[in-house]
Amino acid sequence: MIDQGTIQLILDTAEISDVVGDFVTLKRRGTSMIGLCPFHNEKTPSFNVSQAKGIYKCFGCGKGGSSVNFIMEHEHLSYADALRWLASKYNIEIREKEENPEDIKERNDRESQLIVSEFAQKFFSEQLWETNPGRLVGLSYLRQRGMRDDIIKKFGIGYCPEGKDIMTTAAVKEGFKMEYLEKTGLTIKREEWIRDRFSGRMMFPIHGISGRVIGFGGRTLTQDKTIAKYLNSPESDIYHKSRVLYGIFQAKRSIIQEDKCYLVEGYTDVTSLHQSGIENVVASSGTSLTIDQIRLIRRFTNNVTIIYDGDQAGIKASMRGIDMVLEEGINVKVLPLPEGEDPDSFSRSMSATQLGDYIKANETDFIKFKTKLLLAGVENDPISRAKLITDIVSSIAVIPAEIVRSEYLKECSRLLDVRETVLYNEIRKLKVKSEDDMVKHQERELLKEAIVKVTPVSTPVPVSNPCENEERELLKLLLKYGAHVIFEIENPENNIPDPVYVAVFILSELDADQMVSVNPAIKMVYDEYRDHLDDENFDAIKHFVNHPERQISQLVSDILSEKNKLSKFWVKKGSFIEEEHEILPQLVPKVLQEYKLRYITFLIAQAELGIRKASENNDDEGVQDFQKRYQKLKTVERLLCGHLGKRTITS
Ligand code: CTP
Ligand code: MN
Repeated sequence: MIDQGTIQLILDTAEISDVVGDFVTLKRRGTSMIGLCPFHNEKTPSFNVSQAKGIYKCFGCGKGGSSVNFIMEHEHLSYADALRWLASKYNIEIREKEENPEDIKERNDRESQLIVSEFAQKFFSEQLWETNPGRLVGLSYLRQRGMRDDIIKKFGIGYCPEGKDIMTTAAVKEGFKMEYLEKTGLTIKREEWIRDRFSGRMMFPIHGISGRVIGFGGRTLTQDKTIAKYLNSPESDIYHKSRVLYGIFQAKRSIIQEDKCYLVEGYTDVTSLHQSGIENVVASSGTSLTIDQIRLIRRFTNNVTIIYDGDQAGIKASMRGIDMVLEEGINVKVLPLPEGEDPDSFSRSMSATQLGDYIKANETDFIKFKTKLLLAGVENDPISRAKLITDIVSSIAVIPAEIVRSEYLKECSRLLDVRETVLYNEIRKLKVKSEDDMVKHQERELLKEAIVKVTPVSTPVPVSNPCENEERELLKLLLKYGAHVIFEIENPENNIPDPVYVAVFILSELDADQMVSVNPAIKMVYDEYRDHLDDENFDAIKHFVNHPERQISQLVSDILSEKNKLSKFWVKKGSFIEEEHEILPQLVPKVLQEYKLRYITFLIAQAELGIRKASENNDDEGVQDFQKRYQKLKTVERLLCGHLGKRTITS
């Protein structure tokens, strides 16, 4: 952990133009600087740097943030590593956060395990290329499998010589401690003996995202079915199976370039696809996908294509965990392979061009794939058909984007020959089952008094934020003018006026109406701002622009770099424009009201939809409930419109 003072020093030193300037040629234009965006291909510059705000923003691809974010994005580093990167650029010595002796030991422990792993990888490699047993047994095995030398080297594949403790002895001789050989699992130690875990195996080093070796997969060379084909490093301080994807280090650049990631099962699937020129590929290495692995992929792309082995087990494996992937908002496709093939064997049986053509022609959307697959098994049995519908709908229900969801429902309705309303109803049933989910996804308790408890709306609940624009406008005011005084209230005790700050005003208004954003990043900014209300030195912009949570720093720098929309609020008659900060007492309340009105309008539309759906289903009670809700909302709308000087059109 880097100490807070050091972080501050780094943030103060790392000027945005200087940091970005290492990678992008910037030209001054007005108050900002402009250049060609390093994150997407462009010919005319749309990449802006604002020295005053300390942020960059590309109006082409939308990327934006602070100096730290730039390095995170450009160098693919974590927040902490980006800080370290900047520290070394500016020769800032990193003070670690009040490390107690235990912390220090832990850090040194991890480092020692990484170093011994690196040693082992080099050792296995040397054995493979430079010793007779390595060449005769190991290298010839790989070549026999058709693996090219450049691929062997790219992945650092090696050979652990057959014997009791050849590797361990070599390591100890080099001065490595037994403690770390044991902790990394390279050596197995018992009271009466020690031995190499991987003796006689082909060694696939597993790299972490930044390229350091964190573990190994060792493949046996024997055909003996009683011996495990692969032996992997045990869990350790540096190797957590569930958080690792084999090949991520070698794949990350290509994943970003292609904006897509292939997911396979095995080590050799990854290496063979590389050999065929497909480099955006990672393997889950025999485990079913975990949420951490998905999040790792999501740092680079939202598009995943699963290539599974062409057998029943492969199909089952690819089905597992898929809902989890869909839930993360990732677009999932599958590429079925012919029976009996895995990506390794399949890619070696044809040229790279043929492989590319096959992929193009056979990649299928996951939902379509699942529907067809399951459909083939049920034929006309009504009970299994019903089960099948629930099954597929449950996959669709977890997809966060409303538009994507409704597209899938259309598609399924066609494939299954079931009316769309039936599918919507299924989704609703599922949603009702998990009340928590509903609360999470639904408009929540915004404007609580206005909402009558009704049966859930029988349409998929939008997860996109209906008030996004208004919320951003308000947030911008909070960030820019939070510390300004909006007005003063007379204190009856001493007749001295008390200032009310913009931040206090906004936050208490939101609290009073219990308005909570459905956008988690926006919500977090409000929550954190609330925690800093008493902090006199709080610099909101600096705090949030440099926030370690990427979502937040991105959101805030986006908001701050939005061109002033010359909001309708501050254009005065006679085309004279006042400065924002001069009219805060009018501006802030108006933006707040606009926000509330937008929200009510959205709720009204929901209620109307509810009335329609309920009457379609001859659900009289439902119709009544929605009508009650509708009336109440309309009343609130009228009140709000009064405030805003608008009138609703009454028919
Ligand atoms: N695996 C494992 N332990 C095993 C078997 C498999 O950890 N005993 C993992 C490995 O990561 C392996 C993946 O599951 O790469 C897929 O297994 P499998 O298809 O059996 O192996 P292949 O990758 O096809 O290996 P090879 O081509 O060398 O036979
Ligand atoms: Mn295989």
